[in-house]
Amino acid sequence: MDKPPIFHLAPLQGFTDFVYRKCYHQLFGNINAYYIPYISLGPGAKIRNSQLRDLLPENNQEVPVVPQVLCSNLSELRELAPIIRDFGYSKLNLNMGCPYPMATNRGRGSALLEKPDELQQMFDLLFSKFNFEVSVKFRAGITDEEPIFKLIPLLRAYPFSQHIFHPRTAKQLYKGQANRDLYARFVEAFGQPVVYNGDISTASDIAQLQQLVPTQHEWMIGRGILSDPFLIARINKQLPDPTTQTEMKRTFHELVFEEYQRHFSDNGQVLMKMKSFWSYFANSFSNPHKAFKIVKKASSLTKFKASYPETFRLY
Ligand SMILES: Cc1cc2nc3c(=O)[nH]c(=O)nc-3n(C[C@H](O)[C@H](O)[C@H](O)COP(=O)(O)O)c2cc1C
Repeated sequence: MDKPPIFHLAPLQGFTDFVYRKCYHQLFGNINAYYIPYISLGPGAKIRNSQLRDLLPENNQEVPVVPQVLCSNLSELRELAPIIRDFGYSKLNLNMGCPYPMATNRGRGSALLEKPDELQQMFDLLFSKFNFEVSVKFRAGITDEEPIFKLIPLLRAYPFSQHIFHPRTAKQLYKGQANRDLYARFVEAFGQPVVYNGDISTASDIAQLQQLVPTQHEWMIGRGILSDPFLIARINKQLPDPTTQTEMKRTFHELVFEEYQRHFSDNGQVLMKMKSFWSYFANSFSNPHKAFKIVKKASSLTKFKASYPETFRLY
């Protein structure tokens, strides 16, 4: 019998923050786990306030979250893992996929794919010193697709709860299409269940992947959900009628807006957050370009409040 699909929300720094996760979970609730965008050591070996706020247990109550760390070596992991443990989390995801030079130049994210010895030490620490349920999220390599195949024995040597694979190289950033054939080749070589991540935006993307990998049932989706909050309902064939969808979209927006205003006292910050939200949410309107344009040109929160109802009415 086919296993029912399991969906995870991908972490997108600046987009899938605690407000977004909470509001989505409250209204749609069809996601198994919400991966928190990474924490990492910033200037002065400190974690940025925005990253800490996203991780705080009081901001993640009743939402099934998985914290993530971005680090380059054992010593950075030794700093970060206890923070997650001390906040009371039992799960940890290791970022082995971040493609941006800001991270890779420091040996973080996808740079780890070329440092198997470093990785082994990090896995040893995670599995011997901590009681975490550990998962890994990775790409294929920095410039070519071979590193991930070379890492298979190492990945198989530890009891990871999930292996999440985004089939692109770091050089590709998020451009072009995720390489589905590469994904299928990896699953075949790996021989264990893998979570697919990359460019799922319709139910037919899922169906096409299942043609390539018939056993595939676990998915991590980011931009597809940000652009279409009904994507999972659509995939599950549980889409509400159009009137209910419009009402739910309005409610979702109100919830997000209220929560940002509750958590951020600075109007400029609230406006920035809402514009980030709309940069994807606008795609769920019949004319995404016009829908986003209206919101984008708001130069103050007062102007934003006056403008977004028009978007709901017209587009
Ligand atoms: C703006 C942005 C921020 C991201 N932040 C993170 C992050 O903090 N941690 C991570 O593992 N991946 C991060 N990603 C990658 C996403 O989790 C995901 O792998 C990628 O968007 C592909 O999936 P999608 O096509 O379903 O969006 C980020 C991607 C983008 C575009």
